[in-house]
Amino acid sequence: MKPVLTVSNLTKIYGNRKVVNNVSFSLFEGQIFGFVGPNGAGKSTTIRMITGLTPITNGSIRICGYSVTRNFTHAISNVGAVVEMPQLYSYLSGLKNLKLFASFYGKTAQRRINDVVKLVGMENRIKDKVSTYSLGMKQRLGIAQALLNKPKLLILDEPTNGLDPNGIVEMRNILRALANKEKISIIISSHNLAELEHTCDVIGLINNGKLIEYQTMEQINKMIESRQRIQFMCNYPNYAAMLVKKKYGLPSKVIGNSILLPLKEANIASVVSYLTFKKIKIYSIKKIQKSLEELYFELLNNSRPSSSIL
Ligand SMILES: Nc1ncnc2c1ncn2[C@@H]1O[C@H](COP(=O)(O)OP(=O)(O)O)[C@@H](O)[C@H]1O
Ligand SMILES: [Mg+2]
Repeated sequence: MKPVLTVSNLTKIYGNRKVVNNVSFSLFEGQIFGFVGPNGAGKSTTIRMITGLTPITNGSIRICGYSVTRNFTHAISNVGAVVEMPQLYSYLSGLKNLKLFASFYGKTAQRRINDVVKLVGMENRIKDKVSTYSLGMKQRLGIAQALLNKPKLLILDEPTNGLDPNGIVEMRNILRALANKEKISIIISSHNLAELEHTCDVIGLINNGKLIEYQTMEQINKMIESRQRIQFMCNYPNYAAMLVKKKYGLPSKVIGNSILLPLKEANIASVVSYLTFKKIKIYSIKKIQKSLEELYFELLNNSRPSSSIL
């Protein structure tokens, strides 16, 4: 399968600062790519280069096979984007806004208005004035607008910024439906990894302009699993740690009256029987798991060269 988007060695220099530094990744049909990083990491600049809003310093971008620099018109005809806040006329209804934008695109877009309204779940409110919409509804109308020309690639720059938890869930459901049913590929940026957990197939972590991780959500979950620890509260934790090390070769950390072990659930019973056999009293057993947010900060702190899944 050919990628919908290929970003190769993309670099942007402002003055003497590399704000995007040799970024490469590909996106396939129906995939949702979560582009995550702290403020100032280079997300918007990358997105602006993909949508042709900012010139590329170095590297290349291909959308559906067309180079953004050499064949911009063809490349951009496959893209729908909401960069920053969607541009809407608040004194008009949602529907009038869509009609106005569709008139710029032509007949095909005009025939699609009803479809895009359904896709973003706005049938009930589309005839109301935009000034009465919540932020989440404005974002959804922005997405509807971006879908008018039937793009293969939808790009959303921090669309969940300022949304309440309900708004975030609605956005997630819409994006998943677009990816699953319409086979649209989506780039969604955010400074909050946890927010994208249930939305994305692939996560790209950017820090100081560099793509420091590029992993499937499955791989990210495995990273969390491999960092899982089992905490045993017991008497004689130092002795218990020594026993476990000798018997299982497992390193453990002693904290107060407990030991922390990198242990799979399936092996807990064996450790418990062994320690009990050795006359250690176990008072409690607890699973300690890193949250996605903690993993995010760990990865940012030990930024290392990008590891590619392709
Ligand atoms: N037009 C510009 N001129 C100079 N520096 C810029 C410009 N646009 C962005 N930057 C700088 O590039 C870096 C990345 O910004 P940006 O891509 O907006 O980050 P993000 O979207 O991840 O928060 C920041 O340090 C920002 O100050
Ligand atoms: Mg930004």
